[in-house]
Amino acid sequence: MAGRIPDSFIDDLLARVDIVDVIQERIPLKKAGREYSARCPFHDERSPSFTVSPNKQFYHCFGCGAHGSAIKFLMDYDRIEFPDAIEELAGRVGLKVPYEGGRQAAPVQADTADLYTVLDQAARYFQHALNDSPTARAYFDGRGLDPATQNAFGLGYAPDTYEGLRNALGNTPQRIALLEKAGMLIRGERGSPYDRFRDRVMFPIQDRRGRVIAFGGRVLEKSDGPKYLNSPETPLFHKGRELFGLWQVRQSQQKISRILVVEGYMDVIALHQHGLPQAVATLGTATTREHAEILFRNCADVYFCFDGDRAGRQAAWRAVESVLPRMRDGRQAHFLFLPDGEDPDSLVRQEGHSGFEQRLLAATSLSEFFFAHQEAGTDLRTADGRARLAERCKELIAGIPEGAFRDRMQEILTDKTAIRWSLAASLSPQMREGVEEMLEERVAQLRGPVAPTASPAPLTRNAATAGDGQRSVVRQAVALLLQNPSFAENFQPPYTFVALRKPGIALLVELLGVCRARPNANSATLLEHYRDREEAAALRKLAVLDLHGDAKTMRQEFTDSLRRLELQTMQQRIDDLVVRQGEASLDDAEKAELRSLLLAKRG
Ligand code: UTP
Ligand code: MN
Repeated sequence: MAGRIPDSFIDDLLARVDIVDVIQERIPLKKAGREYSARCPFHDERSPSFTVSPNKQFYHCFGCGAHGSAIKFLMDYDRIEFPDAIEELAGRVGLKVPYEGGRQAAPVQADTADLYTVLDQAARYFQHALNDSPTARAYFDGRGLDPATQNAFGLGYAPDTYEGLRNALGNTPQRIALLEKAGMLIRGERGSPYDRFRDRVMFPIQDRRGRVIAFGGRVLEKSDGPKYLNSPETPLFHKGRELFGLWQVRQSQQKISRILVVEGYMDVIALHQHGLPQAVATLGTATTREHAEILFRNCADVYFCFDGDRAGRQAAWRAVESVLPRMRDGRQAHFLFLPDGEDPDSLVRQEGHSGFEQRLLAATSLSEFFFAHQEAGTDLRTADGRARLAERCKELIAGIPEGAFRDRMQEILTDKTAIRWSLAASLSPQMREGVEEMLEERVAQLRGPVAPTASPAPLTRNAATAGDGQRSVVRQAVALLLQNPSFAENFQPPYTFVALRKPGIALLVELLGVCRARPNANSATLLEHYRDREEAAALRKLAVLDLHGDAKTMRQEFTDSLRRLELQTMQQRIDDLVVRQGEASLDDAEKAELRSLLLAKRG
């Protein structure tokens, strides 16, 4: 196990490396004044908005916001982990990486290198054997794989013998031991080791640098044994971390626009051959959190494909549980359920590239699948059902990283579990009057001096019944912010109006975050940021809206609109509590909260 790398070493390393060299080796840079520029490698663009500053030793893209040091660039561009990026940079300047707490790494590494070597040799041995076996070749041909595809995946064949691989590669006791350690030989109770894979077509499993680390082998015909046999866990192969086909995806795509996660080897390969070189497969396991992180590191859009049957839905739910804690802002997960009895391999061969593409377009979003799954068997018309749903979702939603996605999920849940407003009819007239009176006072207190240009939207009784007049408060705030990103400076999270159930709130909150994170943002960079989102068109309209008034007035208007949203949130909460009181279901804490909200002014 490698130890920690000391910060002082990283500082030293960054002082010696030139980021311009590192980037220039990978993408062409043009000198522009004191900086260098290029078309951004992290998003699609026609004109260059990616800059590299030799002074700051930093890169920054004004289009997508990507930025960082040479280390970050290597991690994102070469898609390698932090320690590997450090090793790579250290190698360039001839430094040796000091790992705290351990020199034991060295001998292990020597051994590891040998393991890679024998696995590589094994892969070549299987490829030769495929060439020599008409039956195995006929199998792949029969499944419609053309030679180029077979080559790209390094497919092979393990002959029908117990000592083919052993005799070919195991010519010394050390090599036999290595082959055993690599999972290629099995040692019987006593007696000598023999080939693990026999009479199977072979699928090499490659790591993120393209090195063979394991194999999957499929029987040619139905037989007693398992249809697919995989290498066991070895020092190089941990199936919860590896994705079959990821290397090929990365090879074939400069920039990965999306990744499809399917269940089988043949699915990956068939999709690849039919012009969808974006598919990877887990290796006979459910999607783990580690898989999820690796997937999202490669690409922000991940599509999980499952069978439409019960088992498929169960597997999909396990994927959801692994994915939720990885849903940082900007990442999106989609779920595609296939017709019964079909898999991506059979579908793409029947329907072709465009047919499969159609299915992807219709994929279910994570939130949609999440709630459909959680609501199954619950009656949301009953208080009991709503409480059960809230209970069931609470922890999972809390496990989502802070951000717009979690807010949106929370919002949907609140929406689904809130008491329907129609029930408020059951409130006594005095009660309703009391609430309204209180609200007016509260509004007056909170509104404070409002700029004359801002015409306050009428406060209606409940958000659910709000008309367009109210919705425009959110829109107004978004427009003002879009045209004056610096307004965000004065408003730091948490924002109480996050909880407001109203279209556009999540976007406003997200936009505030984006503006705060990028003090130099302007309308253009913000629009660029949202270019691929469904909100893009609406935002473009708001960005060109003619907002009259000078900067000072607009700033005041912005403040007012946020304050109004805050008020509406408070009102919404009071509404919820009052309605529930009508149902006599408030607990003591909620009663106290309602009382203090109601008395906020008088107290
Ligand atoms: P499937 O049985 O659905 O196979 O297993 P498939 O991919 O459609 O295979 P073909 O089309 O019949 O060749 C899906 C995946 O589950 C794992 C393998 O990774 C396989 O690709 N699996 C399946 C095993 O690991 N062992 C098995 O015995 C079966
Ligand atoms: Mn199949």
